[in-house]
Amino acid sequence: MSYKQQYAKVLHDVIGDALSQEEIEQLIEQPKHEDHGDLAFPCFQLAKAFRKAPMMIATELAEKIDNPLFSNVQAAGPYVNVFLNREIVSREIVKRVLEEKQAYGSSEPTGKTIVTDFSSPNIAKPFSMGHLRSTVIGNALNQISRKKGYDVVGINHLGDWGTQFGKLMVAYNMWGKEEDVRAEPIKELLKLYVRFHEEAEDNPALEDEGRAWFKKLEQGDEQATALWTWFREVSLVEFNRVYQMLGVSFDSLNGEAFYNDKMQHVIDLLEEKELLVESEGAMVVDLEAEGMPPALIKKKDGATLYATRDLAAAVYRLETYGFEQAFYVVGGEQALHFKQLFAVLKKLGFENVDGMHHVPFGLIMKDGKKMSTRKGRIVLLEEVLQDAINVAKQNIAEKNPNLANAEQTAREVGVGAVIFHDLKNERMNNIEFDLEQMLKFEGETGPYVQYTNARANSLLRKGEYDGSAFVGSADDYSWGVVSMLNQFSTVIDRAFTRREPSIISRYVLDLAQSFNKYYGQVRVLEEDAEKQSRLALVKSVTIVLTEGLRLLGVGAPEEM
Ligand code: ARG
Repeated sequence: MSYKQQYAKVLHDVIGDALSQEEIEQLIEQPKHEDHGDLAFPCFQLAKAFRKAPMMIATELAEKIDNPLFSNVQAAGPYVNVFLNREIVSREIVKRVLEEKQAYGSSEPTGKTIVTDFSSPNIAKPFSMGHLRSTVIGNALNQISRKKGYDVVGINHLGDWGTQFGKLMVAYNMWGKEEDVRAEPIKELLKLYVRFHEEAEDNPALEDEGRAWFKKLEQGDEQATALWTWFREVSLVEFNRVYQMLGVSFDSLNGEAFYNDKMQHVIDLLEEKELLVESEGAMVVDLEAEGMPPALIKKKDGATLYATRDLAAAVYRLETYGFEQAFYVVGGEQALHFKQLFAVLKKLGFENVDGMHHVPFGLIMKDGKKMSTRKGRIVLLEEVLQDAINVAKQNIAEKNPNLANAEQTAREVGVGAVIFHDLKNERMNNIEFDLEQMLKFEGETGPYVQYTNARANSLLRKGEYDGSAFVGSADDYSWGVVSMLNQFSTVIDRAFTRREPSIISRYVLDLAQSFNKYYGQVRVLEEDAEKQSRLALVKSVTIVLTEGLRLLGVGAPEEM
């Protein structure tokens, strides 16, 4: 039971049935100022039942509350403020963290499913900075959702279908060389695609040929399918290198192509409900009443679109996974697409539309401009991550030249820095990409949190922590740490409901900071009777920092 719940129970015992314990719990606040206590209950809602002014009620309630959990109970205007007994509470919290270990802060299984659609790069094209953001944010949301007790199905909705693949086949058949594509798949395929567009300007017949090849592919032509399969495979080999570096995996790689044979089903449903109307030869769903442009379902030539495949995907996912919620972690540019998608699903009478959320995010900027992996050198992302690892390696070599696991640690620190930098600010903000800055050991960086954790771990080794409990009296510095530890599950809740991993990043920064304050003021390793008790607090900090970083997809080396 949380302290809020315990306070609600104590209040319920003295209030009686005017409010239920749950209602009381909902009303309890956390005062903005520490000197107003740790928890506050506003009495306004009792005025009617008690036929008294809230201030009077507060005074009376404060007098009646007598519980060892609270060191002080005060009426402050219409509020009943309580101060937690720091000694009792500190011991309890640290004990809980030490017992529950990485399960600290976890919720009971809900038995419900969340489907996340994340990363989703396009085959035969470079993995963009936008896809990096989607990957990192989506992965964190998956971990946070699992922590909240959900089953998560993480889907990489690969962009592996559409007329562009017909064009690519034409280009490959005319100018492509197998060994070149094998050597550097995405670079070569992109080159072919660019050349196609250049040549098509003078020779429009190429476009028709491209469409014809895509048609072949749609109809399962052997040669077209073999080429498509190969393009997809070699692209995935490159993408997988990035995923491996980031430590991200998927439960499904069903991309757009997967829905090729599932679109007719949706079109039938739309027709049954008489939602499809003709517009300039194309089939659309009118969304005027919703204040949106019509959703294009079928082109004049009968070809389906990105939106059609997303409709089919939503229907398939609901039928297959029976999800309670679905997250689409996709850049803000696609906001209208998802609004239209949800609106059409609603018109279809689809259940759970309210549980479907577009989770948008801002851009990655470099020197004030949108950072792009398309211009200039290709497949930059892998190089970006490698650069980060190299800088981390140097930083570590300066700080700790004898580190045993230097290679692996540099990977965790370098890649972790990139991920943390991405997740540090609210996702809608644009990010300035500054490698030097994000790899610093001080300031609001991943390495700062990792280094704090590593230092705490080294205290445990030096002090030979023996698993003792925390029995220390609660000075201000340890209380600062303990009250942060206590907030972990509330923080996870907030990050989950707002679909905002930055709430966890901020939290681990704050926890690291409060620990560093403690460490700066208290001689942890002093050989006295309380040394092992202090180390118990240190241990609980390492547990929560490590778990917090894990939720973000960032490693926590014990030594660095
Ligand atoms: N492949 C798309 C792109 O790169 C993103 C797909 C997002 N997911 C979806 N279900 N539409 O823009």
